[in-house]
Amino acid sequence: MSRATIIEHVHGRRVFDSRGRPTVEAEVRLQGGAIGRAIAPAGASKGSAEAVDRRDGGSAMGGHDVRGAVASVAEQIAPALRGLDGHDQIAVDEALIALDGTANRSGLGANAMIAVSMATAWAAAEAAGQPLWRHLLGERQGPVTLPLPEIQIFGGGAHAARRVDIQDFMIVCPGAETVAEALDWTAEVYRAAGELMAESGRLAGVADEGGWWPVFASNEEALEALVQAIERAGRRPGDEVAISLDVAASEFGKDGSYQLARDERVLDRDAMIELLEGWLDRYPIVSIEDPLAEDDAEGFLRFTRKFGHRVQIIGDDFLVTDAGKVRAAAQAGIANAVLIKPNQRGTLMETLECWKAARAYGFGGVVSARSGETEDVTICHLAVGWQVPQLKVGSFSRSERMAKWNELLRLEEALGDRARFAGGTPYAASPPSPSASSSSA
Ligand code: PGA
Ligand code: ZN
Repeated sequence: MSRATIIEHVHGRRVFDSRGRPTVEAEVRLQGGAIGRAIAPAGASKGSAEAVDRRDGGSAMGGHDVRGAVASVAEQIAPALRGLDGHDQIAVDEALIALDGTANRSGLGANAMIAVSMATAWAAAEAAGQPLWRHLLGERQGPVTLPLPEIQIFGGGAHAARRVDIQDFMIVCPGAETVAEALDWTAEVYRAAGELMAESGRLAGVADEGGWWPVFASNEEALEALVQAIERAGRRPGDEVAISLDVAASEFGKDGSYQLARDERVLDRDAMIELLEGWLDRYPIVSIEDPLAEDDAEGFLRFTRKFGHRVQIIGDDFLVTDAGKVRAAAQAGIANAVLIKPNQRGTLMETLECWKAARAYGFGGVVSARSGETEDVTICHLAVGWQVPQLKVGSFSRSERMAKWNELLRLEEALGDRARFAGGTPYAASPPSPSASSSSA
């Protein structure tokens, strides 16, 4: 190990996220002078099995303060990591996991852990004189895939006071040839959707992730408006611009029963699947996240059997970026893609393990931001550096979102001739590889 990459100091800082809530920023300084910095994001519609943030509780900041987590960086993490090789991400992450000592990361807090883990990666890249994406790609030569952006046009569910039940009404641009073109098309669709809302007297600001506030009489009306917006933007719904949904069904489903407040209906598992089937038949939907609740493996299985060959079925709350859950789901024939949120686990090492497990089974992958975000752009570098073919960041407004899309434009420019855009259908799952089903790795 070179002395230059030995960790000299780790600093924790209390900063604020896009909801105005405190969050943890970490700075890792190496002996050679390189510094890496990263900020933890925060979810609102969380899976019950995800790693938990450490929050102070009490009355200040609505109980969301993170003074305890920031203190854990100074008092526990900094002394434990000092002297480790910052270039050895696995050693650093294993030290964090051992120090935390809990299964759900409530000891140090997943917010403190992920900030330090990501800051370590930035510091190592800086020491190597490389941007993070290149450092993560390693020696690899040849074309580099840039992820297909998945961008919210209407926000709903927990991000819009449950104005509609479905959480994310998103678009992807499989017909675009570059990230830049996909973002141009998205900008036009986003604008057209805003105009449509204004013309019908339904413009009411934006939801948590920057999508238009969903003033709709039903969930399906949002799908109709989305198709209209795509057409108004001059794009063909389907092959050029397609729809992607995050149902986030754990927010309104439990024990196989689904309470659709907006549609004033309670559906059992099969009726819920039928509702989604109707949407899949009537709208150009190519991807659907958490179509059933996290506790409804049976529903997920039925849904995957019926539709797994025609749409991407992503587990978010259902798989919580957990390699073990991904393997189990793949072996059972449940879902065909995974959402990858680093703070659902707490370390980069485990996040990468999850993506490796997914890839081994032919699962698709989407690196994802949280609803509470900041200017931090680490996830863009992870998507490119780990070659994950899709990126979900929220909508096309508000700087915590635009910081990521703008970074992706920079990465596309930096890659030049090596850049390959994951347009087309990166969400089509390939069959599980035989070797994956027999290996326990
Ligand atoms: P979050 O949800 O509010 O937990 O970040 C985002 C998602 O469900 O994908
Ligand atoms: Zn989700």
